[in-house]
Amino acid sequence: MTSQFDHDPHELILDWDTDAIVERRNQYYAASQRAFVPYQAPLIFNRGQDQYLWDEKDNKYLDCLSQNLTVSIGYNNPLVTREVIKQAQTLQHCTTMFFHPMPAHYAEELTKTMPAGEEWTVHLMNSGAEAIDMALLLARSYTGNIDIISLTNSYHGATFGAQSVTGISGFRHNVPQLGGVQFAPVPDQYRGIHGEGVDPYLNDLEGTIHYATSGRLAGMIIEPVQGYGGIVPMPEGYISGAHERVRQAGGLLIVDEVQSGVARTGDSFWSFEQHGVMPDIVVAAKGIGNGYPLGALIVKREIAEAMSKKFYFHTYGANPVSCAAGRSVLHIIQQHELQQRAKKLGTALLEVLEDLQGRHEVIGTVRGRGMMMAVELVKNRGTREPDPETMVRLFENTRKYGLVASKSGAYRNVLRICPPLCMQMEDVAFFEEAINRSFESL
Ligand SMILES: Cc1ncc(COP(=O)(O)O)c(C=O)c1O
Repeated sequence: MTSQFDHDPHELILDWDTDAIVERRNQYYAASQRAFVPYQAPLIFNRGQDQYLWDEKDNKYLDCLSQNLTVSIGYNNPLVTREVIKQAQTLQHCTTMFFHPMPAHYAEELTKTMPAGEEWTVHLMNSGAEAIDMALLLARSYTGNIDIISLTNSYHGATFGAQSVTGISGFRHNVPQLGGVQFAPVPDQYRGIHGEGVDPYLNDLEGTIHYATSGRLAGMIIEPVQGYGGIVPMPEGYISGAHERVRQAGGLLIVDEVQSGVARTGDSFWSFEQHGVMPDIVVAAKGIGNGYPLGALIVKREIAEAMSKKFYFHTYGANPVSCAAGRSVLHIIQQHELQQRAKKLGTALLEVLEDLQGRHEVIGTVRGRGMMMAVELVKNRGTREPDPETMVRLFENTRKYGLVASKSGAYRNVLRICPPLCMQMEDVAFFEEAINRSFESL
């Protein structure tokens, strides 16, 4: 169909000059959005294809970060692009007051990714933090209780609600956070306060419930693999043990799968499935949209009904273009067996990292679950004192040798390696050489 706006005499030509890009951003971005810059010199991206990125000078990189675990199935996927364009060309938005089949199709398909035996429903929105906020509100509405437990070293987002359950000081602002939130110690098997084991951490959780709450809980929120905390997987038995204790106190289990979901950990579509638990609420975002803004709460029908009589509305919730992208992501993961690939490639990359650990004293530990991997740097393997200074140099080297990764962890001493699930075996040799050279030239 033609439009009165078809003719554009002033088509925008982007200015790709390096200095101009940096200057314009520095001048017009607010300080709050300018501040988060990982490398010493700005890294500007011009384009991406599958697992590769190119900067404005046409240097090629192997992406090991997936835009913070968002571009899950890779850049410029032709199916995603085609479905997005198709939807954008017919109707770019349809607010949830009105009906459109696309979001409901997508919701139906999302529920099919969940374990059988429960009736799942979906609330669609734009981002992870929005979904976290809603999970907290819903848990409180349903149970009638206030207290929420979260884990230390967690990250759940930047909004007031999500920040209040985030357990790393660097992500919490100096303001009164939302009340009714208590933290239990993370069962980090390398750096946790009890070292290895699960029972001492579950005892601490019991203590937190007993001493720091009313004894009645709205819920507990857990990342099955902590992301910004530095890829810290929950040990076997922790989530199920925690669930038992939280349920006894009247609370719900909320799992935050924003980083760990969508086939990334390799053994299952959602990583909670590896823990033998049935959560009440699952929070998803990032990888479900492959870069298009999409967040979702997947929740048991009975629990969701608690909010049926109260206004709760997101202007861009259930946007059909984002949902078209989300549907394609699900289809591509299934059709191309990307979960199996995440397992295979994750195993191969972890072997490279383990080999590296044998040769470099500065590596305290390496760990991984599928395509979520971490290399933790320490000053001394005995004391395990974090080494963020060496991490800064290592991180710059990884860029120099053609990798895009991330430094994370509460002490900024963890190299986080989370490539798109479409990475291929041929990329492992390049990765190995790049990471070896990054360490050798420290
Ligand atoms: C585990 C986890 N939960 C929630 C969020 C918040 O998501 P968003 O940044 O889309 O608000 C993030 C973001 O990084 C995350 O890593």
